Amino acid sequence: MSLADIVEHLICPVCGDGLGLGDRVLRCPRGHAFDVARQGYVSLLTGSQAPGTADSAAMVAARDSFLGAGHFAPLVEAVAAACRTGTGAAADVRVVVDAGAGTGHYLAGALDRLPGAAGIALDVSKNAIRRAARAHPRLGAVVADVWRPLPVRDGAADVILNVFAPRNGPEFARVLGPGGSLVVVTPTPRHLRPLVERLGLLSVDEDKERRVAASLDGRFAEAERNVHEFEMALDRAAVEAVVGMGPSAWHTDPENMRQEIAKLPETNYVTASFRMSIFRRNP
Ligand SMILES: C[S@@+](CC[C@H](N)C(=O)[O-])C[C@H]1O[C@@H](n2cnc3c(N)ncnc32)[C@H](O)[C@@H]1O
Ligand SMILES: [Zn+2]
Repeated sequence: MSLADIVEHLICPVCGDGLGLGDRVLRCPRGHAFDVARQGYVSLLTGSQAPGTADSAAMVAARDSFLGAGHFAPLVEAVAAACRTGTGAAADVRVVVDAGAGTGHYLAGALDRLPGAAGIALDVSKNAIRRAARAHPRLGAVVADVWRPLPVRDGAADVILNVFAPRNGPEFARVLGPGGSLVVVTPTPRHLRPLVERLGLLSVDEDKERRVAASLDGRFAEAERNVHEFEMALDRAAVEAVVGMGPSAWHTDPENMRQEIAKLPETNYVTASFRMSIFRRNP
């Protein structure tokens, strides 16, 4: 558990004051208290209204299995490299916030390459955050809703990561420190070709790019944009995992999908295609 590494950067979701770490509890000076779970994460969600967009246990397990097999390794490299572009030397990056961190896979990859940095994984899915809590010794895992005020101090982040996850432009602008970078990764319409056609998966709409820019409009300027594309050789189990972790998992009957996947060849050549944009805060 490494909430100790990040607690100084967190704020109380009720009153906005700082938080201190006690015996398995985070507490603000006004006495609002948040228990640290047995697995080492803390929930800073207030109220009972969790959004319906949290990844389910099955989706998180599929994601963990697929990412753990290293199929997106080139993207992990690219995300880690992007963390170093804002402030120059890797040593300058002290705090990386991953908004919609999932299992913490990309954040852990970035921390591996940033020896002096601590990571804050934020996700609204408890299932995901439980795994993120064990993803890296310098990572603190927090259940939080990206649509609401983030439980992070003004200007605390040197880098904010946002990989296939919801964005909150005003809050990202508040939390990102001067000179910091916001690294946004989204799939391109070529992502997971030809599985999308073959299995009838939800395809990425062509309008996605415009919506990303609109959600950050005014507060951020895009400093860099790259497309990262590579081929993966996936067996049927890996195909099942990549389908199960993606947006189609919300919309398809698993048994039907399993039958369709059983008809696929032993090895499937599938494109991974991502757009990575690096944004800087406007002055
Ligand atoms: C497609 S997954 C990506 C996870 C991770 N970044 C990755 O690429 O492995 C989207 C993640 O966003 C989380 N999420 C959805 N709505 C959210 C919200 N309102 N606040 C925080 N996280 C949210 C989901 O629980 C899920 O873990
Ligand atoms: Zn408080």
